[in-house]
Amino acid sequence: MNGQYVAVITHLDDIDEVYANHRLRPMPKLVLGGGSNILFTGNQRKVFLKMEIEGIEVVEEGREEVIVEVGAGVIWHQFVLWCLEHDFSGVENLSLIPGTVGAAPIQNIGAYGVELKEVFHSLDAVVGKTGEQKTFLPEECEFGYRHSIFKGKHQGKYIITKVRLRLSKKPTFNIEYGNLKTTLSQLGVEELSARAISEAVIHIRQTKLPDPIDIGNAGSFFKNPMVERPLLEALQEIYPDLPFFEVNDQWSKVPAAWLIDQCGWKGKRRGDIGVHENQPLVLVNYGGGSGKEIVKLSKDIQQSVSSTFGIDLKPEVNII
Ligand code: EPU
Repeated sequence: MNGQYVAVITHLDDIDEVYANHRLRPMPKLVLGGGSNILFTGNQRKVFLKMEIEGIEVVEEGREEVIVEVGAGVIWHQFVLWCLEHDFSGVENLSLIPGTVGAAPIQNIGAYGVELKEVFHSLDAVVGKTGEQKTFLPEECEFGYRHSIFKGKHQGKYIITKVRLRLSKKPTFNIEYGNLKTTLSQLGVEELSARAISEAVIHIRQTKLPDPIDIGNAGSFFKNPMVERPLLEALQEIYPDLPFFEVNDQWSKVPAAWLIDQCGWKGKRRGDIGVHENQPLVLVNYGGGSGKEIVKLSKDIQQSVSSTFGIDLKPEVNII
């Protein structure tokens, strides 16, 4: 670990301590949640701030809603399980997403028809260098598809320490996405509940997505691209079964998985790395592959999707 330091942050004071240390202060810092959405392409001379601030607490309770405050270091899925135990709904569709609660707003995590921004109340963050603390409300976070101000203008500036989420005691369930409904009936669910939805989502994820504990991966490597109507119509002439989701009159989202699949990449292996056999949007490291090799593979995929469809794929993973 030449020139690399890991500081475990369990409390705000730990951040002050890192910045007060004369050796660590001038070095570049990188905040790590679970590290599940990052690809390292080489050794880093950095101080890693490993966020382990714990705690889940109801801070406001109404008849229909609760506001829950969660430490940035809490594992996201542990938080989902806590919500199910307490009969609070809103995050069941986001079951089994790897990573921590503090990282969730940064890329506005989303799955099976729900995005974090729909349950987001506020978050606390601190500027490491100055110790300045700030609370961000939803409108200040500039949430978008797998995006927020913390990936944009404020990238690297703030360290998120706590997140507050608004959960429901009287849920309205969202089961419209893809095969969620059919999975629920396959699993024999008769009465809908947050727990049943969570189990169905876990079932789909476990059959389609590799577990990063078994096979190295960072989830979807690319975002699903937005395609403008004229290009979509031209492509539909050639590929009548092209899947798409209309976003507005002008733009549609096309599944990157489909584009990559069509270009023949699904299940392709290059030594120790490859394209996952069930979900071509996920690039995998079978062990021993390097970050640089993954980047090269991703560029080759971008190139072939671009030359076949005229669509540019953008990485969703943070490449460092
Ligand atoms: N598809 C194929 N071939 C395949 C797999 C999928 O053609 O082998 C096409 C199908 O048309 C399918 C479509 O891709 O209907 C969509 O597939 P899926 O439902 O698996 O979703 P996705 O668009 O590939 C997105 C998110 C995932 C999230 C799922 C479920 C992005 C970049 N990815 O994937 O998020 O779990 O929807 O909501 O938006 C992540 O962000 O890391 C992530 C895994």
